[in-house]
Order: sequence, then C-alpha cells, then structure tokens
Amino acid sequence: MNARSLLAQAVDTALEGTVVLSFSRVGYDVRSRLFAWLDLTERPMTGKVAVVTGATSGLGLTAATRLAALGASVRLLGRDIGRTERAREEIATRTGNPDVEIGVADLASLDDVRRYADQIRRYHSRLDVLVNNAGALVREHQLTGDGMELTAQTHVVAPFLLTAQLLTLLAQTPGSRVVTVSSGGMYTERLGLPHLEMGPDGFDGVKAYARAKRAQVVLNRQWAQRAAHSGVTFHAMHPGWVDTPGIQEALPGFSRAMGPLLRTPEQGADTMVWLATAREPLTSNGQFWLDRHRRWTSKLPWTRTSAPDAHQLWQWVSERAGVGAVDGPEPVVTP
Ligand SMILES: NC(=O)c1ccc[n+]([C@@H]2O[C@H](COP(=O)([O-])OP(=O)(O)OC[C@H]3O[C@@H](n4cnc5c(N)ncnc54)[C@H](OP(=O)(O)O)[C@@H]3O)[C@@H](O)[C@H]2O)c1
Repeated sequence: MNARSLLAQAVDTALEGTVVLSFSRVGYDVRSRLFAWLDLTERPMTGKVAVVTGATSGLGLTAATRLAALGASVRLLGRDIGRTERAREEIATRTGNPDVEIGVADLASLDDVRRYADQIRRYHSRLDVLVNNAGALVREHQLTGDGMELTAQTHVVAPFLLTAQLLTLLAQTPGSRVVTVSSGGMYTERLGLPHLEMGPDGFDGVKAYARAKRAQVVLNRQWAQRAAHSGVTFHAMHPGWVDTPGIQEALPGFSRAMGPLLRTPEQGADTMVWLATAREPLTSNGQFWLDRHRRWTSKLPWTRTSAPDAHQLWQWVSERAGVGAVDGPEPVVTP
C-alpha cells in the first residue's frame, strides 16, 4: 500500500467513526474522491438479467434505472401495478432500454412472492442479480395475511423466500449476486429472536425496523455460508441517509433536520449498483458494505451475533417462509 492509499484508508476509518459524517453525503463525497472508484459505465450489463424489488421509488427506482442504463434486462417488482408501470415507463424513456418489465407482488403476502418467483423462473433461463431492496418503516403494529408482523415479514421473511425461490436460477448463472439493502439503523440493535417480531404492546416501529435490518445482515452471512456451493455471492449493504420518499414519510423530522446533508438517491444507490456489476465483490461473500468498502457489522460489543443465534434465526425464517434446507451439494428449494 502506498502513502496515498494509507492516507485514504485512515480518512475513511476516521469518517466511519463519526457515524454522522459517514452516513451523510459528506461520507460519499469524500470517499468517492479519495479512492479511485471504478466508473460503472465500464461494466456493461448487456445480456444480463436483474430483478429489483421496491423499484417504484427512491433507491430501488434509481438502482433499476442505472442497471437499465448499463444495458441489463431489468425486472421491476412493485406492489401496485399503476406505480410499477409508471416506473417502467420512466426507466425505459430515460435510459432508452426497452427491456424493462414489471411484476406485481406485495411482500406482505408470501403467496404473491411465490407467484412472482414462479414467473421469473418460467420466463428466464438466467438471473444475474437479485436486489432485495423493498421495505418501509411503519409506525403501527400490523399483521399480514400470513399472520406475521409487517416489518418482520416484508424485510426478513419475504426477501428470504424470494431468494430461496430464485436460488437455483441464480446458481445456474455464472457470477450472479444477491444484494440486500439493509440500514445503518441496524447498528443500534442486536439480533434477538424473541424480539424480532414485535407484538402490538409497546410496538416501536423504529426498533422493529432496526431489528429486521440486523436480521437481514445476519442472514446475508448465513446465505453465503450455507449456499457457498451454489457459486452465488451474497452482499448486504447500507446506503447511508438518503433523501427518498421513504425517509421523508417515515422520519419527517430527521429528514428536515438533515436537509442538504442527506445523500441523493444516486449516491445512496451507488454501492447497490457496484455490488451488482463490479468484479471486486465476486471475490468476497457474505460481507456488509457502505460506499464500496467492507464494514463491521457491529459497532457496539453487545450487538454482536453468536453462531447459535444466527442458526436459530435461519431456522425461524425457513419455517416462516416454508423453505427447506439449502445445505448440501445442490441448492434445495421447496415450492
Ligand atoms: N432512504 C434511506 O435513508 C435509507 C437508509 C437505510 C436503508 N434504506 C432502505 O432502503 C430501501 C429502499 O428505501 P427507500 O428509502 O428508497 O424508500 P421508498 O422510496 O419508500 O421505496 C421503498 C420501496 O419499497 C416498496 N415497498 C414497501 N413495502 C412493500 C411491500 N410490502 N411489498 C412490496 N414493495 C414494498 C415501495 O413500494 P410502493 O411504491 O408501492 O410504496 C417502494 O418501491 C428500504 O429497504 C429501506 O429500509 C433506506
């Protein structure tokens, strides 16, 4: 490592320690200048297929647009047909790429997720990228039709099911990746199964969200270990604090207070697109990223996840999603 990279590394570590500067647009601006970042237009995606969930708004819409601009066949997953079709039109017009199609599934319905995965499997012989991005921070306790708390189902169980259902297709595509959009909010919570799915008494949407985001990161590592034989790589990331409709609605006070310090959706989605397209992420598996660098998954000692807890989470989510074992020489996925 030369003196310049050592200095860049030191500045990055100092930034990471401040949290606020790191997660804001300052972190992105400084890192994108400090490091010789790959220009992503050098990674064309022609002939590759990418599924992006939550593609109607914010980070998902931006990531899907950038993947389409790189020439990928992009499959947008939304829960509302009108909004999803508008996103498709916008992406196709902005990028000039007509190969953008929509699918409709509400992650609050596991049957919807199964139906959607079935469609993808039926019409595609490859899947290069799955971006598990969809999700919201909700203030009220709500039960889904599957009888689960909404946050736990939409952020944890449904993306797990979608990944499991698409694993065989991903595994038959060389260089395929699964990118999970977590949140820096997960640093505040430890994994604790009895608390992951919160009940109505004293429900706290911010806590439920942070716990679900922690569970996503633990599952990302688990996927990397348990499906190592598949050749698929798994990456979790957090986008920093990004000015999207989601953050404006969920945290209006925070959003106003941060104002111009919030990242743009392009800045927030940068690492999503980099993980989906660059070669470097293929050399690691199960890691957690911000601004194209690997990050610790815990900043506080009491938030570290033990191996038995991670195993228990895997069992819990498999049961909830109705997914069989993926250990073994071949990925096994129950319908
Ligand atoms: N913005 C930030 O600062 C920030 C920070 C950390 C992590 N994140 C994460 O980034 C991801 C995207 O968030 P965003 O900020 O871009 O928010 P956003 O603008 O509200 O976009 C969220 C997307 O998820 C979709 N979605 C929500 N619930 C769904 C469900 N039940 N089924 C299917 N789709 C659903 C939304 O669809 P509709 O259009 O139908 O509502 C929308 O497309 C989320 O996972 C969020 O937790 C964001």
